[in-house]
Amino acid sequence: MHDTKSLDHADRRAPVAMTLQQFLDAVDTLERDATARFAAVDTADALEAARIEFLGDARGRLKDIQPLLGTFAAPDKPAAGRRFNDAKTRLTSLHAERRAALARGGPRAEPTVDLTMPARRRWQGARHPVTLVIEEIQEIFREIGFTIALGPEAETDWYNFTALNFPPDHPALDMHDTLYLGDDVLLRTHTSPVQVRTLEAYPPPVRVLVPGNVYRRDFFDASHAPMFAQVEGLAVDEGVSFVDLKATLTHFANRFFGKTKTRFRPSFFPFTEPSAEMDVECRLCGGSGCAGCKGTGWMEILGSGMIHPSVLEASGVDSERYTGWAFGMGPARIAMQRYDIPDIRLQYESDVRFLEQFGVRGSGV
Ligand code: DAH
Repeated sequence: MHDTKSLDHADRRAPVAMTLQQFLDAVDTLERDATARFAAVDTADALEAARIEFLGDARGRLKDIQPLLGTFAAPDKPAAGRRFNDAKTRLTSLHAERRAALARGGPRAEPTVDLTMPARRRWQGARHPVTLVIEEIQEIFREIGFTIALGPEAETDWYNFTALNFPPDHPALDMHDTLYLGDDVLLRTHTSPVQVRTLEAYPPPVRVLVPGNVYRRDFFDASHAPMFAQVEGLAVDEGVSFVDLKATLTHFANRFFGKTKTRFRPSFFPFTEPSAEMDVECRLCGGSGCAGCKGTGWMEILGSGMIHPSVLEASGVDSERYTGWAFGMGPARIAMQRYDIPDIRLQYESDVRFLEQFGVRGSGV
């Protein structure tokens, strides 16, 4: 319903002449009506209907009164024209604002939350497969009385080699294997130096597990890395024998892999005598032979042996009274077997697509 009788649709093609004041009042009314209508709509369709009513080209109320502009005498024309244009500009921008607001969800409505929208996936974090393996190893040895010992990654020749009974011309001392930081300081090539440090600090009985990183002058390839983790074990007491070594490591293998076949093969390390490597039946083929175990049906998981008396003596332990055994293993290799990881480099790339497979899968909360 229009307020101004003269603007009724019935005779809008023949606008009735008005005084300037009447015209200005009519524009005020129109503007007030339109402002109220635009503010009240809360759908795009309702807004469009309001636009057509007030700003429509064919039947809009503003368009209706436009012809009146031509009826004013010259002195009134500018004021009437200015007021008309002003109203048109204001209503046009009001309409645009309202349309944008409705597109955003509308300022009148509460900020809306679309409960059906899929949530953004949240990266949950996961422990590294090598960490998982180390934690499991620690837990199994903790149950049978081992504690954790740690040592420095920058070591001296003495702890890394000499005290461990390496002869001076041993190939492991070669620059090709060892990363030297200075004349006498190097990055430890294994965790075995912590055996010596532990025995120096604590009198037997000693039972410790030593997780840590070690360094070798190796290039990255599918099965080698210049830095990798080791877990060392050490047990020293009166009357400790190879039987203890074998029983404890067999117990470990059965706890870690589930009941499994194991075998001990004679080996050599400067710091143990006798020395043995322990194999478990290949997890990938069940012992029938595959690429993973190079057709042998077995996988080597650790080196071990009875601690050489000269290592005990170098550590300040009376080798007449005490004996002990030790082992060292590489959790990265064990993780490859356990989780079927084909290339060791995957463990060092920090690619979340790889890592997330070992944790709680992102729940997408
Ligand atoms: N240190 C050896 C290595 O890095 C592993 C090792 C073998 C540790 C026998 C031991 C052991 O304690 O008894 O290859």
